[in-house]
Amino acid sequence: MAKTKRPDRNQRFPATKLYKEHLSEYYAPKNFNFWYFFGSLALLVLVIQIVTGIFLVMHYKPDAAQAFASVEYIMRDVPWGWLIRYMHSTGASAFFIVVYLHMFRGLIYGSYRKPRELVWLFGCAIFLCLMAEAFMGYLLPWGQMSYWGAQVIVNLFAAVPVIGPDLALLIRGDYVVSDATLNRFFSFHVIAVPLVLLGLVAAHIIALHEVGSNNPDGVEIKKYKDAQGKPLDGIPFHPYYTVHDIMGVSGFLVVFTAIIFFAPELGGYFLEYNNFIPADPLKTPLHIAPVWYFTPYYSMLRAITSEMMYALVVCVLGAAYLGATRTALPSYLKGTIVAAAVIAVGLMLKIDAKFWGVLVMGGAVIILFFLPWLDNCAVKSIRYRPDWHKYLYAIFVINFVILAYLGVQPPSPIGERVSQVGTLYYFGFFLLMPWWSRLGDTKPVPDRVTFTPH
Ligand code: HEM
Repeated sequence: MAKTKRPDRNQRFPATKLYKEHLSEYYAPKNFNFWYFFGSLALLVLVIQIVTGIFLVMHYKPDAAQAFASVEYIMRDVPWGWLIRYMHSTGASAFFIVVYLHMFRGLIYGSYRKPRELVWLFGCAIFLCLMAEAFMGYLLPWGQMSYWGAQVIVNLFAAVPVIGPDLALLIRGDYVVSDATLNRFFSFHVIAVPLVLLGLVAAHIIALHEVGSNNPDGVEIKKYKDAQGKPLDGIPFHPYYTVHDIMGVSGFLVVFTAIIFFAPELGGYFLEYNNFIPADPLKTPLHIAPVWYFTPYYSMLRAITSEMMYALVVCVLGAAYLGATRTALPSYLKGTIVAAAVIAVGLMLKIDAKFWGVLVMGGAVIILFFLPWLDNCAVKSIRYRPDWHKYLYAIFVINFVILAYLGVQPPSPIGERVSQVGTLYYFGFFLLMPWWSRLGDTKPVPDRVTFTPH
């Protein structure tokens, strides 16, 4: 009997086509290292947060009179509620740890550069959403820190000239943080932001798979292909990297579960002690600090005092001087630079430092979007950059950690000074990158990836 030809199922739904494109026939460089675990780990944590979040919503009450008690109810009475809640609260910090390491990988291997600019831009948008998601989620337990943290941060928006007070009112839905605020934050935390986040993660991966992954050598594997058109230095994502990533997942789960079972508060860093006290609008805690993942930016906000504004004015004038005297720009552009600098300095001296602090805090994240166009180094990966570039990156990381540490500490004169220097380094690193990244002798980049089978 003649065999009937099986219909191509992809004509109705491209399941096998997608499987091939993104897994079994997605050729990833064979030299991925430790740093390449964090993309798949970020996906894992995203799933953990969504699944545990669904179960939390079944028992949580988004009502100022009941929210705190409903979380206690989840912790004490709901079967396995404590586990679900600790998975979600630990997952929030884990998300930021994983994403910070993931971004650091991008930074050191130049993964943000051509042709992966869009992958990076989607990544930065994901990071912004993640911050919004964490900030709004933190209000939900309605503890003292939830309440006063939200009060402080929303009040920052009021520092924006002209529209500030109305903007803060719009965000709160009231003149102080209240039940209305809790309701809108709940709605954004469980529906709006996760939807955007999921869309952005899909776009992030589609954009990456279109151009292909970078690797620790920063060389393009698509340059050398075999007769079938497969990259010589590429291996199919499945089964090679699916198995490889299981190792990363196992290591991650060991640490993640150890924290959940033995130290879910992690010394007050993952769950702040003040948040075990119900929100009291009449009693401001002595020391209000955001959760650790926001503290580098919080430090930068606190660093912008009226005294610091003079240092920033000097920076603006210095930049304008260099722009107007050293570059080969047409004279009308030089004039524009001088005029812009004069206006900027005028505004800097006129508008309150608090506003500039808010701008600096926001700018610290926004500047990441511009990274692909700030880096002018002839090579992508840190491996082939001049050694002193590595020191600049190392200081950048240490500086970021110090800023994070200072952000959890109560304000002090020495802390203020250190965070001011730290803020200048943070912005100097990025803003001066077009200049410093060109300097120094790069090492020869190999044609093919460096890889020793093991
Ligand atoms: C929910 C958060 C995120 C998820 C689930 C996610 C997921 C992924 C995955 C699965 C990969 C491919 C595997 C890998 O290279 O590790 C990847 C690559 C990448 N991601 Fe993300 N990502 C997230 C956030 C970010 C952020 C915040 C940035 C940067 C601002 C970023 C920048 C990149 C870059 C540049 C690559 C390409 C890396 C390379 O090829 O060397 N991602 N991401």
